[in-house]
Amino acid sequence: MPLRRVQDMDVARKRVLVRADFNVPLDHGEITDDTRIRATLPTIELLRERGARIILMSHLGRPKGQVREELRLAPVAKALSDLLGVPVNYVPDIVGFDVDEELAGLSMGDVALIENVRFDPREEKNDPEFAKQLASLGDCFVNDAFGAAHRAHASTVGVTEYLPSAAGLLLQREVDALSHVLNDAERPFALILGGAKVSDKIGVIDNLLQRVDSVLVGGGMANTFLKAKGIDVGKSLVEEDNVEVAADVLTRAGEQGVALLLPADAIVADQMSEDADASTVIVERVGSDQAIYDIGPESVKRFAGALKSARTIVWNGPMGVFEIAKFSAGTRGVADAVAASDGFTLVGGGDSVAAVEQLGVADRISHISTGGGASLEFLEGKSLPGIAALEEEG
Ligand code: 3PG
Repeated sequence: MPLRRVQDMDVARKRVLVRADFNVPLDHGEITDDTRIRATLPTIELLRERGARIILMSHLGRPKGQVREELRLAPVAKALSDLLGVPVNYVPDIVGFDVDEELAGLSMGDVALIENVRFDPREEKNDPEFAKQLASLGDCFVNDAFGAAHRAHASTVGVTEYLPSAAGLLLQREVDALSHVLNDAERPFALILGGAKVSDKIGVIDNLLQRVDSVLVGGGMANTFLKAKGIDVGKSLVEEDNVEVAADVLTRAGEQGVALLLPADAIVADQMSEDADASTVIVERVGSDQAIYDIGPESVKRFAGALKSARTIVWNGPMGVFEIAKFSAGTRGVADAVAASDGFTLVGGGDSVAAVEQLGVADRISHISTGGGASLEFLEGKSLPGIAALEEEG
């Protein structure tokens, strides 16, 4: 179902309430990655050009309905103001008389940011009264918070009951890219999965197995697959409860003619630290006192070889503990191979996105999703409530 779009909305002189996902990483009040803020700029700029009065709202962290000083949105307002090159009026409250008074002073093109909506316990409950109060701040609503689209909260879903609503430019871009890989991906289609747990990715495997030509598995989750093949992985992290699940995936992949590649070699060590004594072994030779912390060079070579002919690549989850230099080569190798592809490449999930950013290949990826859980749920084929609320009727 097509989405109602911000481009088609009459916003001139109107108060436009915009839900963004400004849930950015902070270190002692400093924003360490402003990707999500930058990703929302096109929508804000479009609204400013069209003479809207813009009232932004977002969550930050998980304050569980309480005011937490370190999760106030003041640093976001400052960063946003620097990026836009105009003042951003930070209102340190969510709803109420003071907020109404502050917002009444907005002129065409002005931008305000209200406080972290999760400071109010009614936000995550999608409380209708709270949604109505939020809705009273605007004349219409634009949702650009793709990263929070899997949450049915007052600021993502509830407000759409009370205001004409549309999708922002970022949310539209995300939906277009993810729908493209689900519905009309060019073949061969390769899916790369990493990260710690099979349980986090099983929904994606189930939904994509019949659409892909190959699945490349790395990261901690590969250990569970290796165990399912009867390989002893020493002290490596294994999800014992999911060995059967992994065995079933191996069987189904075989039956459907999908090439499922596991690491052939690995970087092992006795501990997960910068000064660990690391070595490269074939996966059948992991010592009983060793654990796997990255895929090895032969695996990188085979994975890169498998990616060469792919016309579509989806990657979610790092290949190893890439934050530690000696366990980062696997993730780097795969990032380089994805970046070198001239097919359509999509990277999603917080850690793999951080990896492509850190490794400097982000500008060679077709689409980097700003959603972690949201992009996974989309790839699982689930309907995301924040998106469903913006669909055209009929
Ligand atoms: C995210 O970081 O994935 C989104 O901002 C959603 O945050 P949440 O998992 O706390 O709802």
